[in-house]
Amino acid sequence: MAVVVSRRTSRINPFPCGVAVVGPRRYDAATMIKRPKIAIIGAGGNVGAAVAQWAVQKELGDLVLIDIKVDPAKGRALDLTQCGPWEGFNNTSFVASDKPEAMAGADVIVMTAGVPRKPGQTREELIGINAGIVKGICQDIKKHAPDAVLIVVSNPLDAMVFVAKQVTGFPRERVIGSAGVLDSARFRTYLAMAAGVSVEDVHAIVLGAHTDKDMVPITSNATIGNVPVGKFLSPEKLSEVVENTKNGGATLTKLIGTSAWLAPGAGTCLMVEAVVRNQGRVLPCSIELNGEFGVKGAFLGVPVKLSAKGAEAVYEFELSAQEKEAFGKALAANTELMNIARGILNG
Ligand SMILES: NC(=O)c1ccc[n+]([C@@H]2O[C@H](COP(=O)([O-])OP(=O)(O)OC[C@H]3O[C@@H](n4cnc5c(N)ncnc54)[C@H](O)[C@@H]3O)[C@@H](O)[C@H]2O)c1
Repeated sequence: MAVVVSRRTSRINPFPCGVAVVGPRRYDAATMIKRPKIAIIGAGGNVGAAVAQWAVQKELGDLVLIDIKVDPAKGRALDLTQCGPWEGFNNTSFVASDKPEAMAGADVIVMTAGVPRKPGQTREELIGINAGIVKGICQDIKKHAPDAVLIVVSNPLDAMVFVAKQVTGFPRERVIGSAGVLDSARFRTYLAMAAGVSVEDVHAIVLGAHTDKDMVPITSNATIGNVPVGKFLSPEKLSEVVENTKNGGATLTKLIGTSAWLAPGAGTCLMVEAVVRNQGRVLPCSIELNGEFGVKGAFLGVPVKLSAKGAEAVYEFELSAQEKEAFGKALAANTELMNIARGILNG
């Protein structure tokens, strides 16, 4: 039988500059199984806070919100805690801190630290700032949470996964980028809007790079209710959907004035959930390719099986000639960004 155990005293201010916002934590009385520890870095910001919100709603574990600016991290933790009375968050504990030690022993780390793009900017333009930020944090991750599964969100995404893998030295299955989940959600949404059907019945995936130019929405195997998407949409309409998907982030950045966070947070949290609940979800994630799709050593979005081990498997399937060509362009773009990132790492 499960019991509720308050760990209040042990969770208050465990770190010098951190403020713990606490709630009772639930343990299995028989096994005393530890709740997953999920550290979100950059959690004072929009995407990190959105990941935290979805994680709390799904009761995925205990959350550590880390940010170089500690007050926004504390604020996000307190704000979320105050949802508890209505949303029943009575068994999640939060720690807010600016200290890297706060991530110690985390099972999953979500990296959302870094600057977002402004209207008119590309994600690639962020590399000069974000590569340095991600590098510094990954040195801390290697030291404090060497067994964690690391989910990178910071942009330019595929290059930041490369930086994270280089710096931590973690095996490829434990360094995964979140972008395909978001881009595929946008693709499915635009398909559903164009076809006038429920998004729940739309199955479609986006592979390749997380850039406006080089993401690869896959139309060749997209279906709506198991019926090929071509039965619903003309080639012209499909091309329009593909363009809308590729410009999905830029469209929102222009509308909001900064990059979006709700759907990015939801998609990233889906990945966290797949890991902490050992679900074996098959989701598009950015990972170092080891011969899959004919690519070795570059980082691109492909279908991945996510479980407690991280990316347990990578799956390949046949692309159309046009999609192969687009995937090749994504590879070239990633190689170029990796070379810039390599320069920053060595600098
Ligand atoms: N992969 C995706 O699908 C996707 C989607 C949206 C945004 N993003 C990217 O995610 C990142 C965050 O976006 P956002 O909108 O939340 O930005 P934001 O500015 O709201 O938040 C970023 C946070 O990172 C913190 N930070 C900066 N340097 C840090 C450090 N060294 N240690 C700890 N924290 C640090 C900042 O203080 C800030 O609170 C950006 O790079 C953005 O481009 C990726």
